[in-house]
Amino acid sequence: MSDVFTAYVFDDVDGKPKGGFKTLTLADLPDLDVLVEIDYSSLNYKDGLAITGKGRIARRLPMVGGIDIAGTVAESRSPEWKPGDKVVLNGWGLSETQQGAYSRYQRVKAEWLIPLPDAFSTLEAMAVGTAGYTAALCVDALEDWGFIQNNKDKEIVVTGAAGGVGSVAVALLAARGYRVTAATGRPETHEYLAGLGASGFIDRTELAEKPATFAKERFAGGVDSVGGPTLANVLGQTFYGGAVAACGLASSSDLPASVLPFILRGVALLGVDSVMAPRAKRERAWARLARDLDKAKLAAITTVQPMSELPELGAAIVAGKTRGRVVIDVQK
Ligand SMILES: NC(=O)c1ccc[n+]([C@@H]2O[C@H](COP(=O)([O-])OP(=O)(O)OC[C@H]3O[C@@H](n4cnc5c(N)ncnc54)[C@H](OP(=O)(O)O)[C@@H]3O)[C@@H](O)[C@H]2O)c1
Repeated sequence: MSDVFTAYVFDDVDGKPKGGFKTLTLADLPDLDVLVEIDYSSLNYKDGLAITGKGRIARRLPMVGGIDIAGTVAESRSPEWKPGDKVVLNGWGLSETQQGAYSRYQRVKAEWLIPLPDAFSTLEAMAVGTAGYTAALCVDALEDWGFIQNNKDKEIVVTGAAGGVGSVAVALLAARGYRVTAATGRPETHEYLAGLGASGFIDRTELAEKPATFAKERFAGGVDSVGGPTLANVLGQTFYGGAVAACGLASSSDLPASVLPFILRGVALLGVDSVMAPRAKRERAWARLARDLDKAKLAAITTVQPMSELPELGAAIVAGKTRGRVVIDVQK
């Protein structure tokens, strides 16, 4: 175990959190039960908001950034984990209220960890990351609602399709035999999305225009990571009895919608949160990912980048320029 290591840390600069690289020791880490040696983390939209300062993510400072961990238990005071166990952690307030993942080592609570699924290496688990695990939570929510399984002839729309949540949602839905329509603002990603299983495409501007709020039925359901008028339009085009899983705000946190889809078509808006989701939901979502996510497709959506590139990578994801998932190598 090395004594000193580099971490990406937000500090108070003129009253605002500002990220930078710092040398830490194990003594700098919080006094929590499990010390994890981190192999990889990942880049999520929330990380981009923190890195660019476009969102106030860290609630106390200094704060190590990064919301996703995959690595190996190095020390444990908990009977649940022993040195050598391979583990994954998504969310639980990391980089907000709890010290995060952009570091070679971190101490975490035992109950935040789940075992690394046998299907994945630590790199692959971070290719999935919070975005992919959230996509799985969305598909779980849609299947729990129960409409899409009996309407496989109808389209399911995935918005923000070329992003992290969107790419994994397309792949997971297609793997279960659903007819996936990808809504994207980047026509150059159509071939990539078709490779993941999308069979139809919508230009995102069509959904982003002033909502028709209640239009002709088109979708059995949707996975929305965009919010704003896009979500309102998806709701307004969802079939009687269908449902939309909403998890994101890449366009807006507003919802300029009509109640008509709810009260005239019984459409359901299913809210999905990954950060504080209970362990049973997490393990179920990861089991779906292990079962349905094709490894070749996962590799096709993934790039691995050194932690030293975080400032540039954070700006790119907030600008909507990132395709698929970015794994962060915390040793580089
Ligand atoms: N609820 C949760 O627990 C949870 C968990 C994970 C993520 N999220 C949220 O989900 C969203 C997506 O996260 P991500 O990691 O997938 O981010 P991402 O990789 O940046 O993907 C977001 C995608 O949204 C589309 N988009 C961006 N700006 C847009 C705009 N102004 N109008 C319409 N579409 C736009 C782009 O897709 P195209 O290029 O294909 O158009 C972009 O690739 C974020 O808001 C994130 O905070 C929430």
